[in-house]
Amino acid sequence: MAVMITELSGKKIFPIGIGTWGMGGWMLADNKNDKKEIAAIKFAIESGINAIDTAELYGRGHAEELVAEAIKGFDRETLHITSKVWPTHLSRSGINGAVNASLKRLGTKYLDLYLIHWPNPLANMQEAISTMEELIDGGLIRSMGVSNFGVSDMQKALDATKKHKIEVNQIEYSVLNKEPEQNVIPFCEKNKVKIVAYTPLAKGAVNNSKEILKIAGKYKKTPIQVAINYLLKSSLPIPKASTPEHIREIMGSTGWELKKEDYAHLKAV
Ligand SMILES: NC(=O)c1ccc[n+]([C@@H]2O[C@H](COP(=O)([O-])OP(=O)(O)OC[C@H]3O[C@@H](n4cnc5c(N)ncnc54)[C@H](OP(=O)(O)O)[C@@H]3O)[C@@H](O)[C@H]2O)c1
Repeated sequence: MAVMITELSGKKIFPIGIGTWGMGGWMLADNKNDKKEIAAIKFAIESGINAIDTAELYGRGHAEELVAEAIKGFDRETLHITSKVWPTHLSRSGINGAVNASLKRLGTKYLDLYLIHWPNPLANMQEAISTMEELIDGGLIRSMGVSNFGVSDMQKALDATKKHKIEVNQIEYSVLNKEPEQNVIPFCEKNKVKIVAYTPLAKGAVNNSKEILKIAGKYKKTPIQVAINYLLKSSLPIPKASTPEHIREIMGSTGWELKKEDYAHLKAV
């Protein structure tokens, strides 16, 4: 079985990252919560989280601008920043344009990890992957990966690599959505592709599960902490949180471990 992810793109990382979908707007930029969201990302970094997940899509680039503000004053080399290219930008010129725009908004010279956000059956996988490899060789990104790829797209992406590996597949995975455990996760583990778990709190719905609540009581933890601890066994969870209270609770998901039987129970329900 896979183990907790503490290294990514050649950097040491805290085994939980922070997501930014909804920060700085959704499909359009919205700056009404900028201050609060910048403070939340800063608080997460001060608490020990160093992997930050964003995308050109989020708030039409505004989430990346908020990340840029939040990381000012921190040593860039200690942070791991992931961004993603939208599937309509998967040509060579599309990816090159997108990565440069992301770097500019993020105010950084390089991304630690760059992901193809969703597969696009109309795009040329070979061209997309070889362009990502060129970005690694050119120093604009340190590693590459994919997101929302099922087994057949994963296989195509792996087949298209020539010089560099697919570091991660970022997928929706939570204790309330264990479907990836059937096929995608075993396939990725076999091919040494790490799993990044998005929507790991099921948007907060893990708080309403009786089964999770029962186990939480046993460990004197909260359902959120149990839900993340479950994912730590085989993935890097990247919850989105925009308050210090939520981040503190998330931090309490580490430093202890679900017993084998409780992990197996959650896996089975
Ligand atoms: N690759 C993709 O296609 C894809 C798709 C979706 C998401 N993602 C990434 O994954 C990240 C996480 O996924 P997500 O945002 O969809 O869902 P999520 O992390 O499962 O849930 C986020 C929600 O949970 C709330 N929350 C956080 N901590 C909490 C706590 N301790 N108690 C109660 N509620 C809490 C947040 O509220 P507050 O904001 O009020 O703290 C927010 O409303 C995204 O931000 C994004 O970076 C990637």
